[in-house]
Amino acid sequence: MKFLIINGPNLNMLGIREPDIYGAQDFQALQRFIYDCCLEEGIEPVLFQSNHEGAIVDRIQAAYGEADGIVINPAAYTHTSVAILDALKAVAIPAVEVHLSNVSERESFRQISYPGMACIKAFVGLGFEGYRQAILYLKDWLQKEK
Ligand code: DQA
Repeated sequence: MKFLIINGPNLNMLGIREPDIYGAQDFQALQRFIYDCCLEEGIEPVLFQSNHEGAIVDRIQAAYGEADGIVINPAAYTHTSVAILDALKAVAIPAVEVHLSNVSERESFRQISYPGMACIKAFVGLGFEGYRQAILYLKDWLQKEK
């Protein structure tokens, strides 16, 4: 089983960026955490981070026929990107949304998730652990599908 794990804009600034909200651990630690979670579950991880909406759309399209599942934290594009929503719908690869912070308790502009409309589940406010939950959920969901 192969999962594409996508992290959106400014997540490469983890550890520096608003540590009171996003924690003190850096992006490399997050990548390692995700990588290890996948290996523990026997999943082949493909990690991708970009600050650019079009690059994220291109990567989702390239996953067609390649990835069995997508775990995505679209970061700020969560609240604006119909293009990422459409890309997820286009490839129809089962996807799970993750947010480090609890977006549901933050500003009103964070209350909408466009990519989330193409996701089977969301994990929010669990920090790094949300990615593990997403990986486990997606693996379980795909196994039940078969
Ligand atoms: C985030 C939440 C978004 O609202 C924000 O723009 C981010 C990070 C999170 O992981 O909590 O960049 O996706």
